[in-house]
Amino acid sequence: MKNFLFFKSYKETDSNENELYSLDHALLNLNVQSLWLNMGYWKHTQDYVQANKNLADLLYDQIPTHINNATLIDFGFGCGDQILHYINSRSIEIYVGVTNEKSQYTIATKLLDQNLNDNLKQSKPIVKLFNGNSTDIQSWKNQHGKYYTDLVSENRVNLNLQHFSKFLPYLEQFDIVLSLDACYHFDTRENFLKIAFDLLKPGGYIAITDLILGFDSQKNAFNSVFLNLIAKLTNIPKANLINQDEYEILFKKIGFTNLKLLDITDHVFKGLVKNCSNQTKNFKTGFKINFLKNPPLDNEIPIDWFKYEHILPKIFNYLDTKKVFRFFVVSAQKPT
Ligand SMILES: C[S@@+](CC[C@H](N)C(=O)[O-])C[C@H]1O[C@@H](n2cnc3c(N)ncnc32)[C@H](O)[C@@H]1O
Repeated sequence: MKNFLFFKSYKETDSNENELYSLDHALLNLNVQSLWLNMGYWKHTQDYVQANKNLADLLYDQIPTHINNATLIDFGFGCGDQILHYINSRSIEIYVGVTNEKSQYTIATKLLDQNLNDNLKQSKPIVKLFNGNSTDIQSWKNQHGKYYTDLVSENRVNLNLQHFSKFLPYLEQFDIVLSLDACYHFDTRENFLKIAFDLLKPGGYIAITDLILGFDSQKNAFNSVFLNLIAKLTNIPKANLINQDEYEILFKKIGFTNLKLLDITDHVFKGLVKNCSNQTKNFKTGFKINFLKNPPLDNEIPIDWFKYEHILPKIFNYLDTKKVFRFFVVSAQKPT
């Protein structure tokens, strides 16, 4: 029933024009009970959803374990699966999320309404989501947004009055800023990092996964045209295409300390490409995807799958084998 309602709402979800991801990635979520949308950490699995969760876990594991009852702000939370994943597995007291895609915001709010209402538990944190742009604080900070868990039941508000009042007036500073597989799209990463730095409490941590250029663009003769093309193909602002040296300088310039860069490239692109081809086979062998607006006939490959079958794997294969991009898990601290 839950899933039926979830996908009914998926079918009916409005979206803004020009959404980069929207909801096409439902096709990547084989068991269609989730809408994860990251490149995955494929070291110990060949399952798309598990690889997505593993990347989410690897990212959170970069944050020192002494940060309990964390106040966290998440930029680019997708369709909400990672929010549920984190609040069910980590010690988080307040979870604020920002996404620029309206369709994903709507799905995430429904998913949370459903799950948090069903399992109303005192231990659940307060979650507040915004539809806005990560690099434009005014686009989300003044929105009314929506309080979950606490507004769901008067009872709970009363029970957690102390907890709730902590959240009002609106929190300005967080223990953790997190962005799972999103910030390379932000215009620009540097603007985002400055905002993140300001939003962190002294001693707080930023944890992101990111794409870093595998070569020095300054020393590459054909870099300009080539980088423009890559930026266009991957929807990444050109200013974000920097190599590891430039990346380290950027964090230092903003004021971060304890920068840790974990290169997991070998466990990302290849796994994703293989998953696309496995999923094509699944469609051919009769995997049902009835939740789509125009469900294909049995054993037919859905039209929306074309880009995952023919375009994305070629781009990722190229970027991987030519070492254009490295995929990093990154963490850093705001000085105390
Ligand atoms: C690759 S998806 C990752 C989604 C999610 N973190 C996950 O792992 O399933 C990138 C996300 O970044 C979001 N995004 C891209 N640009 C953004 C921006 N400027 N502000 C907020 N969110 C943004 C997109 O809406 C998309 O959900």
